[in-house]
Amino acid sequence: MTVHFIGAGPGAADLLTLRGRDIIASCPVCLYAGSLVPEEILSHCPDGARIVNTAPMDLDQIMAEIDTAHQADQDVARLHSGDLSVWSAMGEQIRRLKDMGIPVSVTPGVPSFAAAAAALGTELTLPGLAQSVVLTRTPGRASSMPEGETLANFARTGATLAIHLSIGNLDAVMADLSPTYGEDCPVAVVYRASWPDERIIRATLATLKDALDDGISRTALILVGPALAGEGFDESCLYSKDYDRRYRPQSADSPWSSWSPENE
Ligand SMILES: C[S@@+](CC[C@H](N)C(=O)[O-])C[C@H]1O[C@@H](n2cnc3c(N)ncnc32)[C@H](O)[C@@H]1O
Repeated sequence: MTVHFIGAGPGAADLLTLRGRDIIASCPVCLYAGSLVPEEILSHCPDGARIVNTAPMDLDQIMAEIDTAHQADQDVARLHSGDLSVWSAMGEQIRRLKDMGIPVSVTPGVPSFAAAAAALGTELTLPGLAQSVVLTRTPGRASSMPEGETLANFARTGATLAIHLSIGNLDAVMADLSPTYGEDCPVAVVYRASWPDERIIRATLATLKDALDDGISRTALILVGPALAGEGFDESCLYSKDYDRRYRPQSADSPWSSWSPENE
């Protein structure tokens, strides 16, 4: 018996991976985080599967469900939104499962920041503007931030910031970022990326508050940084005509001229 953690993707049911779909289809028990995992994905469960929405449950209740499946030697598909590597609560579940001697597997999913960038049609790492993406959040009712992980500190790097779980903290976000990025810095808010009711709001740090309406109060990502402008960047060397590289040596003297995939 194994608990299979599966990233269910950002919302659109066809953004589930094939591996995730196949594992769901093989598990007689499915526990899903109902607040953000689309019900359509549950259609992959086998007939007669026990399907439980864990949104109203606490950790002890979730572990009790898994323990019941364990006693019956039934594999469990455990679905969380987006990818499991960020804000999935997978860590605390795996810690308990290790103590219980229950094996786990982890299947990645499309994270919401990638779905938001796709909705914007934007590369978040544009040469000369930003070469890093910081996945972060602001403190919430239930979560404080470790010292040093402040928006003001991240802003000093000039990176593209993908700020999760923070649409309700907009005043603090703008106050922390404006001194470093400047009021003209481009911002995009993507609400429910890849869901049918997805919305995109583009603004600057100065105009964002007025550009948003009350309909956007949760499940939104705030993307901030010079790269959001989508202009004023350099071309990468990757496809530059003169750039000497393994797949396109520029001369017989190139260190790459004798390279081939077979002799690597
Ligand atoms: C609990 S976290 C889950 C993050 C998830 N594990 C991931 O990989 O993106 C929930 C936050 O992620 C962001 N989020 C999740 N799905 C989203 C979507 N479809 N569109 C925009 N933001 C989303 C929002 O900031 C939301 O408050």
